[in-house]
Amino acid sequence: MKQKIFVSRAIFPEVLDRLAAHFDIESNQDDRIFTADELIGKARGKAGLFTTPSEPVSAALFAANPQLKAVCNMAVGYNNIDVAAATRAGVMTSNTPDVLNETTADFGWALMMATARRITESEHFLRAGKWKKWSYDSFVGPDVHGATLGIIGMGRIGQAIARRSLGFDMQVLYHNRSRLTPEQEARANQAQYVSKEELLRRADHVILVLPYSQATHHTIGAAELALMKPTATLTNIARGGIVDDDALIAALHEGRIAAAGVDVFENEPAFKPGFLALSNVVLTPHIASASTPTRLAMASCAADNLIAALSGQRPPNLLNPEVLEKS
Ligand code: DGY
Repeated sequence: MKQKIFVSRAIFPEVLDRLAAHFDIESNQDDRIFTADELIGKARGKAGLFTTPSEPVSAALFAANPQLKAVCNMAVGYNNIDVAAATRAGVMTSNTPDVLNETTADFGWALMMATARRITESEHFLRAGKWKKWSYDSFVGPDVHGATLGIIGMGRIGQAIARRSLGFDMQVLYHNRSRLTPEQEARANQAQYVSKEELLRRADHVILVLPYSQATHHTIGAAELALMKPTATLTNIARGGIVDDDALIAALHEGRIAAAGVDVFENEPAFKPGFLALSNVVLTPHIASASTPTRLAMASCAADNLIAALSGQRPPNLLNPEVLEKS
């Protein structure tokens, strides 16, 4: 008899077919968003869950489903899963690192460029029929080439962004939990390790790429925004909650920083309506990893993890190896 799994959101049919070869699947191809209680119900009798960042996988879900063996998330970020509770319950959890590094770095770069060079704002102006003449100062903004780039969170995606800056003749500052090796710094366009405060004071363009946790909640708030140059931009492709969105809206409204690019929001898909009233912000709906090959690679990676976990092998991207050590 095949083990039962639940696939919590619509995914690529070919990945579903692959999972179906191994498991008895209940899947949500209608792509409904379930409440936490509904999700607990869907997990009943299942050995594994295939999840995405929009499903909160809580201690209550583990308590109600002692038969569960694995929860495999289709994302590098996993702050939707209570990993500590999973470990206590003996449930393996996994994410999808690496396969999205370059695509996410491409998008971070594009969002930073669009923000600095006012691309969406000027497009809205044109589409609204307001373009009547060329002017020396229309939609002027800061340069990207030759500027100082500040990267907060210098993991694999941060380093991929730093490598892109070489072609733009930029100086790179970074801040991270731990310093990179000299070889890694050299490959990251000679990135220089500085404090968060120094980075915010010196950078012309700040990009956030750090994972969300209680420790990184509101890494950027009013105090940090006050350190930035009035000509600087801030790009957030990390996670909602890393930035205090109210403080960001106030800083943009008062022109305390030049502009922001925001792909992730506190409580997304809801977002603070104050963002919509601002012209100096580029807003996108959490799409940094959204290229077709990369999303397929992420889904395949999550499937690989689930197949390994439920066939007695170590999942390649296991987040809580303690579970295997205990058993
Ligand atoms: C991730 O992988 O964490 C992304 O944010 C989801 O696209």
